[in-house]
Amino acid sequence: MEKMWAGRFQKALDKEADDFNSSIHFDCKMYKQDITGSMKHAAMLAMQNIISDDDCDKITAGLQSILDDLNNGDLAFDMDAEDIHMFVESELTKRIGDVGKRLHTARSRNDQVAVDIRLFLRDETNEIIVLVKKLLAAILVQAKAHKTSILPGYTHLQRAQPITFAHHLLAYAMMFTRDIGRLEDALKRMNYSPLGSCALSGTTYNTNREFVAEALGFDGITLNSIDGVSDRDFCVELMSAYSTIMMHLSRFSEEIILWSSWEFKFIELDDSYTTGSSIMPQKKNPDMAELVRGKTGRVYGNLFTMLTVLKGIPLAYNKDMQEDKECIFDSIDTLKQCLKVFAPMIETMTVLTDNMYSAAQKGFINATDLADYLTKKGMPFRSAYKIVGQIVAFCINNNLVLETMSLEDYNKYSDLFEEDLYKEISLETCVSKRISAGGTGIESVEKQIEYVSTFID
Ligand code: ARG
Repeated sequence: MEKMWAGRFQKALDKEADDFNSSIHFDCKMYKQDITGSMKHAAMLAMQNIISDDDCDKITAGLQSILDDLNNGDLAFDMDAEDIHMFVESELTKRIGDVGKRLHTARSRNDQVAVDIRLFLRDETNEIIVLVKKLLAAILVQAKAHKTSILPGYTHLQRAQPITFAHHLLAYAMMFTRDIGRLEDALKRMNYSPLGSCALSGTTYNTNREFVAEALGFDGITLNSIDGVSDRDFCVELMSAYSTIMMHLSRFSEEIILWSSWEFKFIELDDSYTTGSSIMPQKKNPDMAELVRGKTGRVYGNLFTMLTVLKGIPLAYNKDMQEDKECIFDSIDTLKQCLKVFAPMIETMTVLTDNMYSAAQKGFINATDLADYLTKKGMPFRSAYKIVGQIVAFCINNNLVLETMSLEDYNKYSDLFEEDLYKEISLETCVSKRISAGGTGIESVEKQIEYVSTFID
């Protein structure tokens, strides 16, 4: 296919170089956005009397027919085209003749691609927000069912204090609510139209950039034409927000993997989200969670690709910027896949509350509460802390836990211990007495559930 810019050249582009240069095999993903942008651009050109209404009608009808044909598979992308913008324009000219050649007045591929990618990312990111909300809904199903299921909370992966499973799950829910906020913030900053920046310096035509911006759902126009075509900050911001979601999913995955091991056995994943082994008949592997954890590296890598592509390029457009697309597309596809599998995996998992409870009975996770018991009876906390440390050591040496040690033995350490200590250090009391705001007590957990519910439409 002859290049649109062939006029200046004596020789055709070398075949390898042509393939190397072409982006159609990945930017074809943006065909809808490219065509919509062109339709609004043509409408503006007519409104400003830069092209006639009649030409605008022909262009619009031509673009619509291309869109329809691509949508129902009646038109295939020409992989010899340089990119999606060239493909649509040459297909338009094929269909409506020379009128099609008027479309590219007062614009450049540089502002066209900058518009297309913003529109594309806006659509995709809104889909991602919906998927994160679905994940929140799945977490809420489990949280509501386990408001009083007790398990050990950990620090350093050592049993620390008793918590409820709902409280633990809601910690992840809070992270995902902030993730939604990060995506929405980035969308807000991105939502300005660069169309009309043209190659880099604006245009001599009497265009109306605000009209196009509004027609495409932008909040306004970019104020500097050089920035309009050079900026890819929004890709960095979005990819960093995508990476943060993956990081959260990956942490959560790590716990899912641990909890499904025989060493923990706190949960059992549903058969539909686990796989077997080719050799070990007993195996039930948490592959989905492992893949999410693994794919996190890939999404981080894409963010670094983007940052590195941008770090050394002078203003304005440089072909390096064509490298913005594959990495961000891959991050989007990966993140969407992960979210689509992760949410139902959480919703369908079986929570083995007895195992959680018996883990909570070991490891002296009520030791803080025993120290608090003494403190509330007047002993300074540091002294109480020391005595309880000695009691724990005594229990370990004598194969006891705090609940099974006799009052007589307790009194060897302090006269303040009385019969009521056993009730005070029961796991149920430890949890229900954590009444501080944001704590694991039931009131706080219910407040958290209420808050997270506000994110679900
Ligand atoms: N395919 C190009 C990209 O993705 C479109 C813009 C090309 N502009 C240019 N002057 N070569 O970045």
